[in-house]
Amino acid sequence: MVKICCIGAGYVGGPTMAMIALKCPLIEVAVVDISVSRIAAWNSDQLPIYELGLEEVVKQCRGKNLFFSTDVERHVSEADIVFVSVNTPTKTQGLGAGKAADLAYWESAARMIADVSKSNKIVVEKSTVPVKTAEAIEKILTHNSKGINFQILSNPEFLAEGTAIQDLLNPDRVLIGGRETPDGQKAIQALKAVYAHWVPEDRILTTNLWSAELSKLAANAFLAQRISSVNAMSALCEATGADVSQVSHAVGEDTRIGPKFLNASVGFGGSCFQKDILNLVYICECNGLTEVANYWKQVIKVNDYQKNRFVNRVVSSMFNTISGKKIAILGFAFKKDTGDTRETPAIDVCKGLLGDKARLSIYDPQVTRDQIQRDLSMNKFDWDHPIHLQPMSPTAVKQVGVTWDAYEATKDAHGVCIFTEWDEFKTLDYKKIFDNMRKPAFVFDGRNIVDVEKLREIGFIVYSIGKPLDPWLKDMPAVA
Ligand code: NAD
Ligand code: UDX
Repeated sequence: MVKICCIGAGYVGGPTMAMIALKCPLIEVAVVDISVSRIAAWNSDQLPIYELGLEEVVKQCRGKNLFFSTDVERHVSEADIVFVSVNTPTKTQGLGAGKAADLAYWESAARMIADVSKSNKIVVEKSTVPVKTAEAIEKILTHNSKGINFQILSNPEFLAEGTAIQDLLNPDRVLIGGRETPDGQKAIQALKAVYAHWVPEDRILTTNLWSAELSKLAANAFLAQRISSVNAMSALCEATGADVSQVSHAVGEDTRIGPKFLNASVGFGGSCFQKDILNLVYICECNGLTEVANYWKQVIKVNDYQKNRFVNRVVSSMFNTISGKKIAILGFAFKKDTGDTRETPAIDVCKGLLGDKARLSIYDPQVTRDQIQRDLSMNKFDWDHPIHLQPMSPTAVKQVGVTWDAYEATKDAHGVCIFTEWDEFKTLDYKKIFDNMRKPAFVFDGRNIVDVEKLREIGFIVYSIGKPLDPWLKDMPAVA
């Protein structure tokens, strides 16, 4: 029986290994983590992450061929294939701070693998890492290996949160990079055989190590670039009277461009896009490719511009002051169908509104009060370095309320901001919300999910990203 161990029981390690266990009943899969609470949650009825369909898969395999454990060393030493799916956040200090990937968690995992291994192993990079990381990992493993043969593979993960199970069941492609030596090719075939249990062979791509590592950064950069492109267009639409949804549709009908990932929004979020582009920028700079670095940097700059633009639009629409005004925030997660708030645009926009002394009343169906308060009290990049956590300042605490109901959040509010495209926000009783709000009542839709005409008929003043402006907003000062 082949034994697999995955170091890191997070958003990637947990679902990915659960899928391997489901599709390969003869493979024993152990998912290990240093976080005792995370492993306890994986072993409970309350899984540590919310993901459609995940619970069913875990329940089907847990205790049979899928195990969650904190006994990291034992499971690593017994495994034939070790996946490493630890976090690789942006560095907050030292060389490359604010851009480079922090590989401290990865390196400590690699040293541990070298220390405890007694037999040959395939070590798989599942985390997203800078191109050439495998070279460093190889050095760490072989310098400590006591004659053990380690083969390093790069097998980046392309799942998106909210659709992780579907993405894993039916991936566009699985990418495996390895050394071009006979041993490297043998390792590629061994990992390919695992995926071949359910993924058609023609969708399993094999490349050299560096192409696989770089393809992951490239894919995320391309995806994020589409969003910044459409968001840049949304600003021009507002200035000219064009409608960004119509423009996106017309552009996306071109089969060379395609319709996906062209929704204008308050900005992209999530743990990957910004981190991976910054990482790409850093690698370009280190290779002396300043023009290339600047090109990709612009994707992040436009994303920041979009969030700032939103704050400015709220403030300027509400007579240039939101001081002391209650503003309801609908949605805090970085996208629908997840409780994940890492790098959610809601954090930056809420901080902007708090900076102008608004009172916020926040509702998200999947995000807890504690999480929201932690997020609003953290500095940029601290989300993946919990050690730096600062308590929220007493004034800020007073300005933020968290509710478990959209109607409660919007009661007596001057304005409503929508930051996550949760389906339930499309079918709210907006007449009831309007009746319970201060007048004039504003809706600022950061996801283009409300029926603008219907809301205007009710009496709302509506701002929807990239849509022709409400006559009321046209009279307000221009937004930077
Ligand atoms: P995560 O923070 O949810 O999980 C990482 C886990 O690794 C944590 O539970 C942490 O305790 C554990 N860990 C860290 N060091 C460890 C060690 N030495 N030994 C044992 N456990 C250790 O992160 P994630 O979202 O699952 O992302 C993991 C990697 O996958 C990152 O490189 C990320 O860029 C990449 N990725 C993420 C996504 C996504 O949607 N979240 C998608 C594709 C790729
Ligand atoms: C992303 C990649 O899609 C995935 O392949 C990779 O493995 C991890 O990073 P994820 O961050 O989970 O996945 O979600 P994704 O669906 O890509 O959305 C990222 C952000 O972009 C979200 O905030 C989303 O709301 C936003 N977005 C997405 C838009 O603003 N407009 C769009 O058209 C699409």
